[in-house]
Amino acid sequence: MRLDKFVADAAQLTRSVARALISRGRVTVNGQVCKKADLALQTGDAVCADGKSLVCEEYVYIMVNKPAGVVSASADGRDKTVVDLLNGAFPRRQLFPAGRLDKASTGFVLLTDDGAFAHDILAPKRHVPKTYHVVLDTPVTPAMAEAFAAGVTLADGQRMQPARLIPDETDPFAATVVLRQGVYHQIKRMFGVLGAGVNGLHRTAIGGLSLDESLAPGAWRLLTPAEKTRLQTGGE
Ligand code: URA
Repeated sequence: MRLDKFVADAAQLTRSVARALISRGRVTVNGQVCKKADLALQTGDAVCADGKSLVCEEYVYIMVNKPAGVVSASADGRDKTVVDLLNGAFPRRQLFPAGRLDKASTGFVLLTDDGAFAHDILAPKRHVPKTYHVVLDTPVTPAMAEAFAAGVTLADGQRMQPARLIPDETDPFAATVVLRQGVYHQIKRMFGVLGAGVNGLHRTAIGGLSLDESLAPGAWRLLTPAEKTRLQTGGE
């Protein structure tokens, strides 16, 4: 696709306004200013206007490495949100987090404007696994792993589905937890009834897609189509 058509479609501008932006040097392709309106874009080219990414797709899917202290919401009167981390990069999109992490938790949050996709990966029946690295205030025990495998009953009587707890081989206080459901504060509450407190909780994967370790806390990037597909895998 030509650059001027791409900019017009992605930024919802007329073709002549898009050409004016390009000729004024306000558009970059792969980080370089490009003033050629007829440039033929290649798949994977990253186009920005005034420093903001332009995407022509119907929906966007964004991996964020959530830092502690940021809330999993689109907007919040008090705290910084995961959508604020994008610094207005997608001004016309109604982005929201597909699944929440607590304010103190860190790691992989998916942002999208595709409600059907978010519903699909969150739906309890789909059983898309979410993987966490957990650090406890007490050593992980075999009894904890057995209780997770059997299904922990929370303090309010709710019975959780079986979950995996894999002790860390190097740190006796740490473990990997894999959940296939998403109940409010689920991991903290599951460990709570087993007498352990959670000092650190970091989501490392959703479905078959791991958090990109090159993303610093607070950083984000768009998913590739293959990565989007991997998000939906891992269930049975
Ligand atoms: N379980 C929790 O307790 N907190 C999270 O952020 C995610 C899962």
